[in-house]
Amino acid sequence: MPNDNPPNLLPAALRQPVPRLPRVAVVGATGAVGVELIACLEQRGFPLSDLTLLASPRSAGRTMAVRGADLPVQVLDDSSLDGVHIALFSAGSAASKRYAREAARRGTIIVDNSSAFRMDPDVPLVVPEVNQAALATHHGIIANPNCVAIIAAVPLAPLHAANPIRRVIAATYQAASGAGAAAMEELRAATEAHLQGETYAPRVLAHPYAFNLFSHDAAVDLETGENGEETKVRQELRKILATPELRIGVTCVRVPVLRAHTIALTVEFDRPITVDAARDILAAAPGVRIVDDRAANHFPMPREATGQGDVLVGRLREDISDPSGRSIAMLVAGDQLLKGAALNAVQIAERLLT
Ligand code: A2P
Repeated sequence: MPNDNPPNLLPAALRQPVPRLPRVAVVGATGAVGVELIACLEQRGFPLSDLTLLASPRSAGRTMAVRGADLPVQVLDDSSLDGVHIALFSAGSAASKRYAREAARRGTIIVDNSSAFRMDPDVPLVVPEVNQAALATHHGIIANPNCVAIIAAVPLAPLHAANPIRRVIAATYQAASGAGAAAMEELRAATEAHLQGETYAPRVLAHPYAFNLFSHDAAVDLETGENGEETKVRQELRKILATPELRIGVTCVRVPVLRAHTIALTVEFDRPITVDAARDILAAAPGVRIVDDRAANHFPMPREATGQGDVLVGRLREDISDPSGRSIAMLVAGDQLLKGAALNAVQIAERLLT
């Protein structure tokens, strides 16, 4: 794995501890995830002495309401993070690569929502319910995983702890929010236009979005046929679950849903496993809520996943294509903007507090 971010930052053990009331910044505050980061900090009563909102020059002069006050949005530059203890970055990979490493060098701890550092061996990739211990190894940057990887890891980890996973086949039904606020707006506008019988020319995504779905918008590797999202999910799940050899096949699809991702998972275990045993493990797992009513045909749905922090898990059944009794199929859904992004980042930040 090429490492274009050499490990020249102080390890966690040698860094100043985070104060009880840290200074916090949200980078990308005006974006789809940024707005949710601010809301999570507010709703969870995150202790802080000062909150700085940062975005691009496009947002100069804007204010955002936080805890009853209008805070100015400032333009991110080289000195914006001076004196900031924790910065939550969600401004895309280019901004993270440009600003996060230097800020970490100057003492800020970065929780980065972009893919810039996720596969760097010196950067822990953390889902707190799964691998909180990895936080101790940070060098000033902690990566928040890809949204599908987080939402899949929350139910897969406790199952893996009980019965090692040999193979995962995943198919995703991914919401607009993963492509940012502009893609959410495109879904709304394209749907309205379609209902009015008008033509809508796609601006953000490559294909018509209303009443349609399409293969994920990440670039496709022309040789393998795998797209960039599928590669991220495979690599990141292996890193989060600490299973570097795990066999994972993924198909990522963008669907016309605003902000919650659904994933169909077929999981093969080392030893036979019953549906009841899997359900019991999942029912006791942190961050999981079972939604599995066969009689009512009521299973995880993006509408019910939206606006809350759990990963919904259901449609639990034996995978009858595997007669050995070692495979289970399930459907999971999680809010891409919350557990898939902002909530997970704030949960990481909470664990940095002393
Ligand atoms: P802005 O609103 O000023 O463009 P989304 O993922 O919803 O598209 O949001 C991206 C977020 O990242 C926005 O807050 C955007 O700010 C911010 N952003 C994008 N590029 C930069 C940059 N170079 N510096 C600072 N913020 C950036």
